[in-house]
Amino acid sequence: MSYPTDRPATWFVTGTSRGLGLSLVRQLLQRGDAVAATTRSVERLTGALGEGVDTSRLLPLAVDLTDEQAVTAAVERTVEHFGGLDVVVNNAGYGFLAAVEETTDRDVRAMLDVQVVGVWNVLRAALPVMRRRRSGHVVNVSSVLGLTAVPGWGLYCAGKFALEAMSEALAGEVADFGIDVSVIEPGYFRTSFLTRDSLALPEQTEAEYPALRAMVQQHLELQGSQLGDPERGAAAIIARVVEGTGPAGLRQLLGSDAHAYATAKVQTLQETLDANRDSAAATDFPAA
Ligand SMILES: NC(=O)c1ccc[n+]([C@@H]2O[C@H](COP(=O)([O-])OP(=O)(O)OC[C@H]3O[C@@H](n4cnc5c(N)ncnc54)[C@H](OP(=O)(O)O)[C@@H]3O)[C@@H](O)[C@H]2O)c1
Repeated sequence: MSYPTDRPATWFVTGTSRGLGLSLVRQLLQRGDAVAATTRSVERLTGALGEGVDTSRLLPLAVDLTDEQAVTAAVERTVEHFGGLDVVVNNAGYGFLAAVEETTDRDVRAMLDVQVVGVWNVLRAALPVMRRRRSGHVVNVSSVLGLTAVPGWGLYCAGKFALEAMSEALAGEVADFGIDVSVIEPGYFRTSFLTRDSLALPEQTEAEYPALRAMVQQHLELQGSQLGDPERGAAAIIARVVEGTGPAGLRQLLGSDAHAYATAKVQTLQETLDANRDSAAATDFPAA
């Protein structure tokens, strides 16, 4: 069991002034846990938490997740302030909706800097702390789009697929140190994700992709009617960490839509495997 039962746990959560991260921080503080919350705007975070929340166990940290030194300093400050670190939630992320050929070099680097390099920065700083204590839980917030990719979401999916791969490898590396790893795969959740506060769009578009422009419009109009409730999502993540990962293993799907998309992906992959069974073996050296 990697979750402390004799004292409040210390959590380090990234991307906390909105959405799922904000719900997590609020619920963790209400549980009486200690929370180091990174954000690009402490003012927005404290404003969003409002009056009714006891913030005596909150350490708000203005951090640029792509700056390795700043991230290391934030983790060190957390350990110093709360005397340890039990759970890391790599939650920060944003959507980008464009065709592959409309996506610039800068767009690619910016996305991967946040979704991959930033997570790696956090883990490089946090894992030694957990390893020394022989206990901890890393929660990486991916997406169902970390399992299946669809037109328009190429860059976002590339980042989430990378996060999934790293998490899977990490889980095997740190299991013997008593550290659990969870990958969270939400479907559409009613956060700021599909608003222009969060969703990034290409600077220049190509007229040959009218279907993608219609898709952008549909996604902006989806705001407010997504299936997923961020409060329930945050509660499910906390329950998983508190109660242990259980038989479901590495991944936690959130939302019936996420489950349906992932199921379709697995079925297609299975068909591909079946169709390749004989041809794959054809490139082996013949048995001696
Ligand atoms: N909502 C969905 O439909 C959905 C579906 C699947 C997966 N997800 C994933 O769930 C996680 C949380 O998203 P959400 O739904 O809560 O969306 P959200 O309401 O837009 O919140 C995203 C959070 O990520 C941080 N963030 C956004 N852009 C960032 C950047 N460029 N650099 C650093 N931090 C940045 C923000 O933190 P600060 O502004 O405080 O710095 C913000 O609080 C993300 O990883 C997202 O990819 C969401």
